[in-house]
Amino acid sequence: MITVSHLSKEFVSAGRNVRALDDVSLSVADAEIHGIVGQSGAGKSTLVRCLTLLETPSSGTVTIDGADVAGLSGAELQNARRSIGLVFQHANLFDARTALDNVAYPLEIAGVKRAERRARAAELLELVGLKGTESAYPAQLSGGQKQRVGIARALAADPKVLLCDEPTSALDPNSTAEVLQLIRDVRDRLGLTVLVITHEMSVVKTLCDSVSLLQSGTIVETGSVENVVAANGQLTRQLVPLPALALTPLRAGETALDILAVGEAVDRPFVAEASRIVGSDVAVLAGSIETLAGGRVSRLRVALPAGADVAAVKSTLVSQGAQVSDPVVSEVAA
Ligand SMILES: Nc1ncnc2c1ncn2[C@@H]1O[C@H](COP(=O)(O)OP(=O)(O)O)[C@@H](O)[C@H]1O
Ligand SMILES: [Mg+2]
Repeated sequence: MITVSHLSKEFVSAGRNVRALDDVSLSVADAEIHGIVGQSGAGKSTLVRCLTLLETPSSGTVTIDGADVAGLSGAELQNARRSIGLVFQHANLFDARTALDNVAYPLEIAGVKRAERRARAAELLELVGLKGTESAYPAQLSGGQKQRVGIARALAADPKVLLCDEPTSALDPNSTAEVLQLIRDVRDRLGLTVLVITHEMSVVKTLCDSVSLLQSGTIVETGSVENVVAANGQLTRQLVPLPALALTPLRAGETALDILAVGEAVDRPFVAEASRIVGSDVAVLAGSIETLAGGRVSRLRVALPAGADVAAVKSTLVSQGAQVSDPVVSEVAA
């Protein structure tokens, strides 16, 4: 549905070239929910702007629903834009219009007749769970309700793709859960392909089928949530974080190891096994178990005592289905 191929975007800023996107390739299947995560400045907004045709790529292509969007103009460009529904951090509703008239607005622009657009807007409000609020003004709605009106409005032109840029960053936890559930619902019912830009790992955990990590304009990790977690990289540490307060400093001579288990391996007694190999108790410094993409994932950080045969512990645990790695410095307490 969405294919981004070798996309690069350079800006000239104060006489200097800034490469905001560097050879980004990405493909999102029909009806898939894909998350793009990355720190501020990673290039997320530039990617969104290239997808929504607000920005022209320096090189590379963007294909939506089989059509190369670069080089479109006039009516074709308008059509391509209409095939993408946009949801932003703030719903930016018109304060002087009712919920119904806000949802009907894009249809009004598109020249749809009044009775028809009002009927369609009412249907959409019902779809997003806001039946009964047709004549309410934005000031009378909660943050979560406003965002749901924003989603209904994004759906008005029957898009094939829903692009959500930080859709829950301005919401409280309850409204966040509500909006994420709605996006999933809308995908299930309408078969939309959804791209969600976020800096919140909780959004990836509850909403996304697949995810990409953008860093300095490059995609450094990408795939289904399940595969990305099993790859034991940066996203694994962010999706299954170890509680910072529990990260105990090591005593002299101790060696810390991180043990990652996915699926059935979560049930294996790795700590007992490690203790057996070293001949004394192995301490657990921190641990976390999550359910992600329907499967369980556990991360444990253990301390092997001074003099332990670290290589023997590693190879035995690996042979039993764990991934064993040295702790990443940035995640170790000072
Ligand atoms: N119009 C622009 N002119 C110059 N530099 C830009 C422009 N837009 C973005 N950049 C630069 O591109 C990089 C990526 O920015 P952006 O896409 O906004 O990242 P993000 O949304 O992940 O925070 C940053 O270094 C930013 O300063
Ligand atoms: Mg941004």
